[in-house]
Amino acid sequence: FSLKAYNTFGVNAKARYFTEVNSVEELIENLKLSNSQTLPLLFLGGGSNVLFTKDFEGLVIQLNLKGISEEMINENEVLVTANAGENWHEFVQFCLNKNYGGLENLSLIPGNVGTSPMQNIGAYGTEIKDVFVSCKVLNLETLEVEEFDLNKCRFGYRDSIFKQEGKGKYVILEVTFRLTRENHIIKTEYGAIKTELENLGIQNPTIQDVSKAVINIRQSKLPDPKIIGNAGSFFKNPTIPLAQFEDLKLKFENIQGYPNGDFVKVPAGWLIEQCGWKGKQIGNVASHQLQSLVIINATGNATGKEIFDFSTMIIDSVKEKFGIELEREVNMI
Ligand code: EPU
Repeated sequence: FSLKAYNTFGVNAKARYFTEVNSVEELIENLKLSNSQTLPLLFLGGGSNVLFTKDFEGLVIQLNLKGISEEMINENEVLVTANAGENWHEFVQFCLNKNYGGLENLSLIPGNVGTSPMQNIGAYGTEIKDVFVSCKVLNLETLEVEEFDLNKCRFGYRDSIFKQEGKGKYVILEVTFRLTRENHIIKTEYGAIKTELENLGIQNPTIQDVSKAVINIRQSKLPDPKIIGNAGSFFKNPTIPLAQFEDLKLKFENIQGYPNGDFVKVPAGWLIEQCGWKGKQIGNVASHQLQSLVIINATGNATGKEIFDFSTMIIDSVKEKFGIELEREVNMI
């Protein structure tokens, strides 16, 4: 079964078996079946954060659980719960149409609701942990449904329990967010948003305006995976000790960094660009010409292995020039 349509890189890897599930019951039935045959399992949401480096000799389960529900908790707040298979951006638009605030900075992020907690998706000054209440998960060992609250998810930058000790142990079924109904908290500190709102001539932005600004920024520099295969930022922005940053600053005076205690977060895109990778293509793979942190399937015919090898070359050259080891953000399968 070809997975080309199920991963945003558009890599033509194959799965031995593939099934789509529309309910938790269907999911459990499939799990029982695969356990009895001891098949390796892989769960797919929107396929926007995976790279298939080879064929998958097991069962791929596409989670197609749909549905959104709401519960007013007070004058100003509402709990909104979405099932894992809801498309993320459509869900954000659903909330904005109802004038529910909190997710607007996360407009246009590819993927589904169910994978949003995995890497604590974030952009333009917001991460889902800022509005996350809880998620329901299926424990793959017991086949029981469990609830994880904010603390239990241990969110960090592009990180959660689901990428650490909980890796491979749970399937996220639904996610609940606490959103505002009136006194919206408008976050425009991120420089690019301010500039875009100015360009649009907006002085007192609504949550819908913030969303519009974010959409404009993303469309202006991030390739649309429907047109050019990609998985957004391929690497995490590295965090290095302050002392190391100060040493680097002596050699590279333009280096940027966002201080955080004794550490500094450095934009990987800048490091990669300085190594000459921006817009560079090798075979079917390239670094995006407007945002070098994004690796693209430039011809549409790249294999996962080619993309992986390309990313290794980037890691090696950044390491050589700056002594910083980039970490892949995309999940390698
Ligand atoms: N930069 C360069 N060259 C480049 C790319 C970036 O010099 O080729 C510099 C920019 O000039 C800027 C800085 O790096 O000063 C940061 O760039 P940008 O604002 O584009 O954000 P980013 O750090 O590259 C992160 C997230 C994105 C998210 C944006 C906006 C990560 C790994 N990526 O990118 O998330 O949309 O911030 O908040 O944290 C994703 O995870 O897939 C993703 C797209």
